[in-house]
Amino acid sequence: MNKIVSKEYFSDKVAKLVVEAPLIAKARKAGHFVIVRTKEKGERIPLTIASSDIDAGTITLVVQAVGKTSQELIDLNEGDFIQDVVGPLGKATHIEKYDNTVVCCGGGVGVAPLLPIVEAFHKAGNRVVVVLAARTKDLVILEDEMRKISDEVIIMTDDGSYGNKGLVTQGVEDVINREKVDLCVTIGPAIMMKFVSKLTEKYNVPTVASLNTIMVDGTGMCGACRITVGGKTKFVCVDGPEFDAHQVDFDEMLMRLNSYKELEK
Ligand code: FAD
Ligand code: FES
Ligand code: MG
Repeated sequence: MNKIVSKEYFSDKVAKLVVEAPLIAKARKAGHFVIVRTKEKGERIPLTIASSDIDAGTITLVVQAVGKTSQELIDLNEGDFIQDVVGPLGKATHIEKYDNTVVCCGGGVGVAPLLPIVEAFHKAGNRVVVVLAARTKDLVILEDEMRKISDEVIIMTDDGSYGNKGLVTQGVEDVINREKVDLCVTIGPAIMMKFVSKLTEKYNVPTVASLNTIMVDGTGMCGACRITVGGKTKFVCVDGPEFDAHQVDFDEMLMRLNSYKELEK
């Protein structure tokens, strides 16, 4: 059982939870994640560790409610307990200082886990431009938080109700056309990452995608998170979650994600 030490809402659907987990706090690096179960019979969901405080023995999670379990989690309050928090899992993000711009783009469920990556690249001294994409104005999240830890935030909405009208790829392409970009990091729906990857491949911009496959055990045993990268089988939970986007077989990933949709219903 892990106690929630504090909770703060960023918007109705996004909350920051500070959770007691001293061993995880000590061991984690940027990019690691945990698998959380809200109650004994509940399902397990993966969440990126946004930050940690070794002295306080806590980790911070930024949770966007998109379905049952993530909603249950942000409905918990300070003083409540989470059934279990397992981690740190996955490989740490490779952070380095580039000569030119790092573009970090996210949409949907990818915006929350993008936050600590933006922060880590910025702290390492990089110029970081964030492109946030959403269908419409009300779905834009974490804009203020991103502004605080980056050099520029570009908002793209499908309907043009806020920021610029267009898809995330348009925002990324505009940046590539106006300044030298050394790295692109993308997190979001698989279809979004697929098109970002196609775009940056055209411009020869190295790109990292943080993949959000379904996960169950998080230890490489269940096979739920299996994908193909550069023709080889990989498990997102132990080999990832970050991969060279240009090598990821997004079509296969999309097919597998869709095959779970029926089960989720
Ligand atoms: P559901 O209604 O069950 O599902 C909504 C969608 O979420 C599904 O279509 C599916 O794409 C995805 N999903 C559902 N169950 C799982 C599962 N067991 N594993 C993975 N994806 C699932 N979200 C955040 O808000 N903050 C984070 O920091 C964060 N970090 C992540 C890090 C990793 C490595 C991964 C793989 C995902 C991360 N996510 C994060 C996404 C988060 O895990 C899903 O939003 C969550 O699992 C949704 O579960 P649900 O029951 O609330 O929604
Ligand atoms: Fe089970 Fe990766 S989550 S193998
Ligand atoms: Mg679920």
